[in-house]
Amino acid sequence: MQEDIDIKENYIKQLDEELLSILLKDRSSGKNIIWATDTYQSRGNGYYPFDNITVKAITGRNGLVIKPRVEKSKKEQNIRVKNKAEVFTPSWVCNSQNNLIDNAWFDRENVFNIEKDKTWQVVKEKISFPEGKTWQDYVVENRLEISCGEAPYLVSRYDTVTGKWLEVGERIGLLDRKLRIINENTEHEQEWYEWAVKAFKSIYGFEWQGDSLLIARENLLFTFIDYYVDRFDNYPTKDYLKEISKIISWNIFQMDGLKFVIPESCKPIPKMQMSLFDNEVHTEECQGCLKNNPNKHTGIYSKIMNWETNKSELFIKQIREKRDDKH
Ligand SMILES: C[S@@+](CC[C@H](N)C(=O)[O-])C[C@H]1O[C@@H](n2cnc3c(N)ncnc32)[C@H](O)[C@@H]1O
Repeated sequence: MQEDIDIKENYIKQLDEELLSILLKDRSSGKNIIWATDTYQSRGNGYYPFDNITVKAITGRNGLVIKPRVEKSKKEQNIRVKNKAEVFTPSWVCNSQNNLIDNAWFDRENVFNIEKDKTWQVVKEKISFPEGKTWQDYVVENRLEISCGEAPYLVSRYDTVTGKWLEVGERIGLLDRKLRIINENTEHEQEWYEWAVKAFKSIYGFEWQGDSLLIARENLLFTFIDYYVDRFDNYPTKDYLKEISKIISWNIFQMDGLKFVIPESCKPIPKMQMSLFDNEVHTEECQGCLKNNPNKHTGIYSKIMNWETNKSELFIKQIREKRDDKH
């Protein structure tokens, strides 16, 4: 188990050559995720906001380029607050809000832990389920962290504000809770893994900035490793790591949450205008951006996987369906 809160990209590469390439995939563009921040552009080509993040740019002698927010310099932290409102939530607040979701689902309080002044005390007894609901229902309930940063509501290997490491038994994320439930209700490794896959398929997040998005993805992958090692005293196979990484690369995705497209991907479109003397080409601004219409963007709409049909869908389709359900 790597108890370092900064998961080193060189270490991931060493685990398996393919893993980082999977974690860098952008399923919407078919390329890699982009930096979408100017934090790194002083490094030159390959580090500009629209450049795709490559394995080469973050490994080898570039292995320390990406750091979690808590390890970034104060100056850099402040710039990111100004540019993208990057302020992370401490674990005790994430816990408190995640508890509210579970209080509603279980219809009782103090299911996973009891909140104490800016901390919590874990409830050690096996968790029981309300009438009409099973542990399997809990594992497959979909959860989404919007603008997820390093995903502290989903997983909690460390407190994103203080950098404090949290042991597996103390964790409070939405995925952590599902993995605890799986631990308490499965016997064999195969059964455990089958349900862990379902849990990962049910956890979603999106984020604008590519570095935080990659860290969020790594945090989910290493959460899988932490729980596997904790339960089986053995390292998961490379095939497991690749399958989990593939799910993560679909479910934790890059998106401008106000437009539902890859950040800054909208472009003006050329329009032919017929005139008496000549055909002139004009460009027309993205109508989605101009009129704040989420359905009219010219950019690349972000895709997610429908794990039931194994077909990809536009994320905005989910929003439209939810909105239509309401009317
Ligand atoms: C206040 S932080 C919250 C991060 C995390 N959810 C937490 O609670 O610690 C806001 C995050 O939103 C991201 N963000 C800002 N504008 C966004 C947008 N339009 N779409 C998606 N993410 C955005 C920033 O990059 C930043 O990581």
